[in-house]
Amino acid sequence: MSGVDSKEPPNSGGASSAGSGAGSRELVERAIEVSKRAYAPYSNYLVGAAVRTRDGRVFEGVNVENAAYPLGVCAEKSALAAAVSAGYGPGDFEAIGISASPCGGCRQWLHELRIAEVSYRRGTGEIVTTTPAALLPDTWEL
Ligand code: THU
Repeated sequence: MSGVDSKEPPNSGGASSAGSGAGSRELVERAIEVSKRAYAPYSNYLVGAAVRTRDGRVFEGVNVENAAYPLGVCAEKSALAAAVSAGYGPGDFEAIGISASPCGGCRQWLHELRIAEVSYRRGTGEIVTTTPAALLPDTWEL
């Protein structure tokens, strides 16, 4: 992986409690591999995600598009839904790697499931390691 490592995205306000990023950067590599399995015939924008639980399991996901465009699902949601289906929940996730910058809706999912550390690849190729709070400030609780 080429590119300069950075702890935070430009709009993070400097706040980050992410760790070294070493573990989740490996997950980005895995996410990039996984993205080859994406079903994205409409956008041709292939995305992969790999999330690691605190007990060491990794769940993968890809974006799955549909001719009815809004029905498509993002890679992060695929991976997280698989993990939740296997019995994991908020606080059980130590890191996620994503092959692209997460969309706004996926940032809300990362917040909901309390992912400790998030790494993703920018369009420039740079790998960013950060937190859901930095990616989505001023969230609320129900
Ligand atoms: N996509 C993801 O899978 N994750 C994101 O966070 C960004 C967007 C997908 C959705 C759609 O299939 C394609 O990328 C283009 O937006």
